[in-house]
Amino acid sequence: MSTEPTIFEKSRSGRVGVQMPTCDVPVVDMESLLPGVALRAGLPLPELSEGDVMRHFLRISQKNYCVDKGFYPLGSCTMKYNPKINDVAVQMPGFARVHPFQPEETVQGTLQVLFDMQNWLSAILGMDAVSLQPAAGAHGELLGLMLIRAYHVSRGDAHRNLVLVPTAAHGTNPASAARCGYKTVPITTDERGLTCIDDLKRQIAACGDNLAGMMLTNPNTVGLFEEEICLICELVHAAGGQMYCDGANMNALVGTARPGDMGFDVMHVNLHKTFSVPHGGGGPGSGPVGIKAHLAPFLPVPVVVQDDAGVYRLNYDLPQTIGKVGPYYGAYLAVVRGWAYIAHFGKQNIHMISEDAVLNANYLRVELGRTLDIAYDRICMHEAVFSLKNLKAQTGIKALEVAKRIIDYGYHPPTMYFPLIVPECLMIEPTETESLETIDAFIVAMEKIVAECHTDPETVKSAPHTAPVGRIDEATAARNLDLSWPIGA
Ligand SMILES: Cc1ncc(COP(=O)(O)O)c(C=O)c1O
Repeated sequence: MSTEPTIFEKSRSGRVGVQMPTCDVPVVDMESLLPGVALRAGLPLPELSEGDVMRHFLRISQKNYCVDKGFYPLGSCTMKYNPKINDVAVQMPGFARVHPFQPEETVQGTLQVLFDMQNWLSAILGMDAVSLQPAAGAHGELLGLMLIRAYHVSRGDAHRNLVLVPTAAHGTNPASAARCGYKTVPITTDERGLTCIDDLKRQIAACGDNLAGMMLTNPNTVGLFEEEICLICELVHAAGGQMYCDGANMNALVGTARPGDMGFDVMHVNLHKTFSVPHGGGGPGSGPVGIKAHLAPFLPVPVVVQDDAGVYRLNYDLPQTIGKVGPYYGAYLAVVRGWAYIAHFGKQNIHMISEDAVLNANYLRVELGRTLDIAYDRICMHEAVFSLKNLKAQTGIKALEVAKRIIDYGYHPPTMYFPLIVPECLMIEPTETESLETIDAFIVAMEKIVAECHTDPETVKSAPHTAPVGRIDEATAARNLDLSWPIGA
């Protein structure tokens, strides 16, 4: 276990990092203005020199694993390298120092970035309009479902309360549907790893007039393209439902195929995945939602528009809007990063993202498929899913233990135990930003770990051995999470 002291333990009374100048404005007697409210007896902040603070945070940051440090094949999360030019862009004063309430004429450049992104994403997704307001993919799901509900209500179809969700879906899908007041109906995945059309037909018939829509991830959560996507959309539309695309896997399609052309009515895309905005601990997310024209009247306000004179404006005049789902205009600096990423590729080259992502995933699938069982043995999209069920039966070693051992080889473990329909699952997404050498080295590491499962199982079961923190009791840590530092401890 790590022995790194907290910054509070390093504190020494009276030590300072900065010398504040003498206050040259009249001192306000806060106690007389806000009696009993504003003044605290003491504020137990840590007291350290600048050097101590710098070393403390730099050292603990270096113990962390991040995509800038090494291969991070976390399936479904699209942990691609985030180009540093994006960070340079967001630090430019024109982007970083604008105020959300500035008059429109003083922020034309800001509005142009938002306007461009609305248009560029519409073009990439095959949609008619885009809202940049949601702060994450799950938030986009909620907005998309709210738009579907507003559409049904506007047509006198408020009774439509059922949403079809495949059993393989990300947990946020049924959660968003429930949050929006819908009941979910599960659809099974067939032996090919695709939506079971027979089950879909059965459930659509059972829902009858109450069908509100379907949420579908394409490529789906086992990394496969839904080959019957046009038929699926036709079946749902024929029953009066709307098609929602979970676009978390858009990295496999960008520049080569468009969900709007497949028949989807509404979708989200995660800027913090496909469009290279850092995520996890790395920064705020953004989950823009694309819609077809019939849903446009219900969009959240404001929408950025350009008038005939070329001036950008914020349009609040949408009488049927569902209102706002977030403050201001979305996570603006995340949008700037995504803008910089798309601009870097341009219309001509953006297809390279998905082509290389799919190529890397299939290379990994074939090469690692010699050692691990592929869950669905067919051409995959941007991620490859393996099942360690047989390895567990032979050696008693679980996917969790293999994942922990990967840390010792210097990699972040892949996504595991998702999707739930694949037993002892490892979902590996190399992304387009990794080289052949990196992927080959990872495959060699995986082969060594599988060999260890047979020859030295105890080493695998007790991994990780090289991480700052070894094996922890994850159930207890999750159930009794304690992140507080008691004052005076
Ligand atoms: C398939 C899928 N859908 C939805 C989400 C939710 O996206 P977010 O984490 O941005 O809320 C994720 C996140 O990993 C995902 O993988």
